[in-house]
Amino acid sequence: MSDDNAAPRIVVCGRIPEPAIDTLRTAGEVWAWDRDEVIPADVRNWELATADVAVTLLTDRVDDAFLDAAPRLRHVANVAVGFNNIDVDACRARGVTVSNTPGVLTDATADLAMALILMTTRRLGEGERLIRSGEPWQWGMFMMLGTGLQQRRLGIIGMGGIGTALARRARAFGMSIAYHNRSAISDEVARELHAERLDLDELLSTSDIVSLNCPYSEATHHLIDGRALRLMRDDAVLINTARGPVVDEAALVNALREGIIGAAGLDVYENEPEVHPGLCDLDNVVLLPHLGSATIETRTAMAQLAARNVVEVLAGRAPLTPV
Ligand code: DGY
Repeated sequence: MSDDNAAPRIVVCGRIPEPAIDTLRTAGEVWAWDRDEVIPADVRNWELATADVAVTLLTDRVDDAFLDAAPRLRHVANVAVGFNNIDVDACRARGVTVSNTPGVLTDATADLAMALILMTTRRLGEGERLIRSGEPWQWGMFMMLGTGLQQRRLGIIGMGGIGTALARRARAFGMSIAYHNRSAISDEVARELHAERLDLDELLSTSDIVSLNCPYSEATHHLIDGRALRLMRDDAVLINTARGPVVDEAALVNALREGIIGAAGLDVYENEPEVHPGLCDLDNVVLLPHLGSATIETRTAMAQLAARNVVEVLAGRAPLTPV
């Protein structure tokens, strides 16, 4: 029998920064998984059986099996802006509210996208691999030439907070901006960025660099497939810091191998953490292990925002950043 006066029980399904745990403790009794590996399902389900709130990471699938294990659950606070790991409809059907962490990881993710643009266009991964290989090398006029960014067009697919922050960075490097988005950005921001809104095909066929900054959903599944890649220029670069399944990874490997596009910079993968073996064999691709939000400040802010959402919900108020 449940005790109505007992403190609410908060189950944290993955390791998060300590200050956020302290915040959660102000709202209820906290149980937290404290290892870096993904929590085993049996441990998670045992703890969820008495949970009022779950704090989840993007590696936790919140589906019917998760929800079946958590009959008392009222809220899921996801420590990520992306929430494709959560079946939001299934949560809604059971009266479970969901929150995410928008805003606080905008700069870190835009910085990383810019880093991938520089790494691919200036062939920095190749250069680093050359030095580490121990192969003899010498400065040469024609050695490992890349391309500059000035006057190049960056086509951004998904012009939300991160896309806009990336556009600001790219402007500082002298790039021009095109974007594809469901809705137009404000006139003020469009003027500031000299940003032109294009349909998808025109953006793909006219951009030097295409950056994916859209959420993952049924509508964006394999948005970049073989057809889309063939529309791109043969020296174009694809950057993905959004979600892996936005790209058909097998089609991308083929496009990079066959010279259909020039290069790619990836932080996310279709079957993460697995990486298509064909990608690892290619020199014209830079591969990072989903580091978009990986700064100490950002991860702390993400966890704190999730914790503050929990505090709000357990005080009977709406979460600050509901999904
Ligand atoms: C997010 O929050 O969705 C990011 O992918 C985490 O790095």
